[in-house]
Amino acid sequence: MTPQTDPTCDLDLLRSLNMDTGHCAVVGLQWGDEGKGKVVDLLAMRFDVTARYNGGANAGHSVQVGDKRYALHLIPSGILSDKAINVLGNGVVIDPAQLVKEMTGLRAEGVTIGDNLKISDRAHLVFEYHKVQDVLYDQALAKAMGGDAAIGTTGRGIGPCYADKALRSMAIRVGDLLDESALHDKLKRVIAVKNTVLAALAKHCDQPFRPFDVDAVLKDTVGYAKVLRPHICDSAHLLHTSMDAGKRLLFEGANATLLDIDHGTYPFVTSSNCSSLGVHTGTGVPGHKVTNVLGIVKAYQTRVGGGPMPTELHDATADRIREVGKEYGTTTGRPRRVGWLDLVALKYTATLSGATGIALMLMDVLSGLPELKLCTGYEHNGQKLTNFPADAGVLNSLTPVYESVPGFDESIDECKRFSDLPDNALAYIKKIEKFVGVPVSLVSVGPRRDQTVLRDV
Ligand code: IMP
Repeated sequence: MTPQTDPTCDLDLLRSLNMDTGHCAVVGLQWGDEGKGKVVDLLAMRFDVTARYNGGANAGHSVQVGDKRYALHLIPSGILSDKAINVLGNGVVIDPAQLVKEMTGLRAEGVTIGDNLKISDRAHLVFEYHKVQDVLYDQALAKAMGGDAAIGTTGRGIGPCYADKALRSMAIRVGDLLDESALHDKLKRVIAVKNTVLAALAKHCDQPFRPFDVDAVLKDTVGYAKVLRPHICDSAHLLHTSMDAGKRLLFEGANATLLDIDHGTYPFVTSSNCSSLGVHTGTGVPGHKVTNVLGIVKAYQTRVGGGPMPTELHDATADRIREVGKEYGTTTGRPRRVGWLDLVALKYTATLSGATGIALMLMDVLSGLPELKLCTGYEHNGQKLTNFPADAGVLNSLTPVYESVPGFDESIDECKRFSDLPDNALAYIKKIEKFVGVPVSLVSVGPRRDQTVLRDV
């Protein structure tokens, strides 16, 4: 198995992060792919329970442990720690085929999965028909309104599954895997409706469509249920009894705050509350219990899929950052859009998520750039905006206002403490802290666990 010692450095990680007491959440503060996986992996070995509260297989964590890289989509990164119990909370939408595949793959790599994985009986299930619906909806919208209307989803069925959750009678939950006959009845009812809707949508999009066969879907699902059944539980109860027993909990967000369905760049968002606000509904743990929120922030900005991105670059700097930062989606392989760090957006998301500290990721990628820019304001129709606008049209048409700072040439990938960082890198970090009003408590300078710089100045 993976080395479970912490080779990070000789400073105490939790003390440096101000996280040595209480329950904690780790949440992305941009459009996802900030590097949450690495941070959760570092933290998980210091917590008793790691719980995911939102999203599904649209998320992708890649975690590097030693020379091995693990791609995780549904299972919390804490699974790579020998110690943590890993919970998929009620707010997660679970594709059983993907989950079983991920479990099998991890087991083949020597990762132990047994009593350390718990799945909420209240979580909702993603079926193949959700994925078909996801892709057809995006195509139909693009066809009806032009390419700009498409959200560019990951095609993992996330939106349609959450929509069925809200529709209630169309939904199937993890708990339904425990009763084959009730599952059969539900599938019969739901698939009849889905086949009707999807056939019409497919026709509209000039796509072929083969209706789903209830017995075939049931057979596959019963197979997945056999594997998943030992892990199904009342996860809110488990989390509360764990807290009562003095265990420490770590909540792991998927996707990120600018993709939050209520607070993100709507409608170009995902379908769950990915900000730390989702912890409470997505696990059943109330707000006052989570005293620390570590916001994960890339040292620049990236986005995949459609939607506004005020600081997006279309130049050689973007190409360089994309190549050095390996900015291609873990889930879809799509090249990510790249831009300068947007401090206006960051202040907004840090405030919403109640960030008590920032982990600044991929800082090493900026090494060698002669000049670094930070977006410190927006102008729209000649007016300076004072807050982050709700309207995607406004976000698309505003002009970012930048402050420039000199770049750093030094390679920083073996730095261990803040005092090892070049002055210009420290000046960049100070600007972020001053604007956002939240301390940067960790800087990541490479994918390995030990490429983590802790605060000593
Ligand atoms: P969905 O979550 O598949 O419905 O996709 C909605 C939007 O969120 C699309 O633009 C996706 O590219 C984006 N998205 C969803 N999950 C992630 C993520 O984990 N990282 C980055 N973008 C994501």
